[in-house]
Amino acid sequence: MPKREILIYPDPRLKQRSLAVDKFDSALHQLLDDMTETMYAANGVGLAAPQVGVLERVTVVDVSEKGDQPREFINPKIVSASGSDSGEEGCLSIPGYRDLVRRNTSIVVTAQDRTGKEFEVAAEGLLAICLQHEIDHLDGVLFVDRLSRLKRELFRRWLRKQSEIES
Ligand code: NI
Repeated sequence: MPKREILIYPDPRLKQRSLAVDKFDSALHQLLDDMTETMYAANGVGLAAPQVGVLERVTVVDVSEKGDQPREFINPKIVSASGSDSGEEGCLSIPGYRDLVRRNTSIVVTAQDRTGKEFEVAAEGLLAICLQHEIDHLDGVLFVDRLSRLKRELFRRWLRKQSEIES
């Protein structure tokens, strides 16, 4: 299984809205397998297809302690949400940066599996946070877009510093 390259912020593809999947074929299965492998290789708990340059509504997550329970969500949609809390987040597309983001604590998500079968998940805790983060990716939204204005300015400063270090 080839692993795919993760796009790094500010790659413009990360800001685009992904399209719904309508073919549940071998190309989709390959994408899912590659994404899971890529997520594990990067020690992430979630990865969305646009992060590997594929603008389709596909995400994989694994919030299990051992990292041995990958879950696939195709065309995921949040159908209800409640509660609110802030927790620290990072993103494989913004390596090295973490900050507090306010999210719903409890959500219900509908999605399809790799065969196209619909399912529903009630998520709390880390899974709820992770799914909201990944579904945001499918809409071209990054966790840094959800920071307060002041914190976004701190992020921009951090970003400038990174590019100075690299150049
Ligand atoms: Ni992310």
